[in-house]
Amino acid sequence: MREKIKLFDPAIGNSEEREAIRTLRSGYWASGVGSGKVLQFENKFREYLGSDQCIAVNSGTAALNLSLSLLNIKNKEVILPSLSFVSTAHAVTLNGGTPVFVDVDAKTCCIDPKQIRKRISKKTAAILPVHFAGMACNIDKILEICKGRNIQLVEDAAHASGAKYNHKKIGSHGMAVCFSFHPVKNIAMLTGGLISINHQKHKKFKKILNERRWCGITNRQNFTYDVKQVGWNYYMNELSAGLGLIQLKKLDRLNRIRNNVAKRYHNEIELEEKMPYEKDCSYHFYWIMVKNRDKIMQKLKQNGIETGIHYKPIHKMSMYKMKRKLPITEYVGKKIISLPTHPNLTDKHVTRIISLINKFL
Ligand SMILES: Cc1ncc(COP(=O)(O)O)c(C=O)c1O
Repeated sequence: MREKIKLFDPAIGNSEEREAIRTLRSGYWASGVGSGKVLQFENKFREYLGSDQCIAVNSGTAALNLSLSLLNIKNKEVILPSLSFVSTAHAVTLNGGTPVFVDVDAKTCCIDPKQIRKRISKKTAAILPVHFAGMACNIDKILEICKGRNIQLVEDAAHASGAKYNHKKIGSHGMAVCFSFHPVKNIAMLTGGLISINHQKHKKFKKILNERRWCGITNRQNFTYDVKQVGWNYYMNELSAGLGLIQLKKLDRLNRIRNNVAKRYHNEIELEEKMPYEKDCSYHFYWIMVKNRDKIMQKLKQNGIETGIHYKPIHKMSMYKMKRKLPITEYVGKKIISLPTHPNLTDKHVTRIISLINKFL
């Protein structure tokens, strides 16, 4: 039996192992205060992105929920793609807003600005694009739509740690940019997420979010504290932050490996419909679109290669069903296959994946 190739596989080394043991032995594993490694990680990630503030939380989902809590979206609308993980839509619903799904661009699978324009209404409070598979959306076009309209840009950058748009890191554009550090992501932690803030009121937002990520606790003095608002248990733990500090140092190098894998897929897979190649993309995965998806995925599995489907569109889930059609999203939802790009892949693995795909097409 040939070696199995996983779709996702965190790239960790001795430093991560030593860091995990150090934190476990320290006995200081977690604290809502956001001191220690969590604070260090926030500072390092802020420097890396060049943003105003960073608030570390315990998942990408928490980052989305908290970011939208900064805007009053109750009875308002948020425009987003349906081609995403369901957390993107849930964050709108949980904050009392209505998700308005629009179609993606067939070339990039990112939200299509032309479709956004069609759905802008008096109720639109925010646009929530997803940098799909690490490919940056057209942020300039989306910001143009927001301009003069009191519409905020909140980005779902769960796939886009280290990706760039217009030579600037994803995380330095929108009012709030939400990252995920789930173990399968480009920065792998046990669980983790982060909100990057770019706004003149960033200090105020940071204070609000620091409180909301730890049950609303504020004004701590010795053993007492006050609570002035509702909050959640969303803070990042020390072990995740310690791993994140190490992973962040390696991020650009690991992303270059992903990028080289994607370049080979792009050049060598004999298919028209596949993810474009871009040097600034973080390639959380690489996608192709095929007619006979079940058969190809099954054949690859029989040959030890794990693939995935990102995503069944959110508007096809019972909770978010709608009458309006999203033709491109629905087409993508039926044809897309995600391929591995993780940094543990060797050249030989990639050659094997490519030749099997070309054989089964
Ligand atoms: C596009 C997208 N948004 C949000 C999330 C949620 O991140 P987390 O799993 O860290 O909560 C994910 C996770 O898979 C994702 O892929």
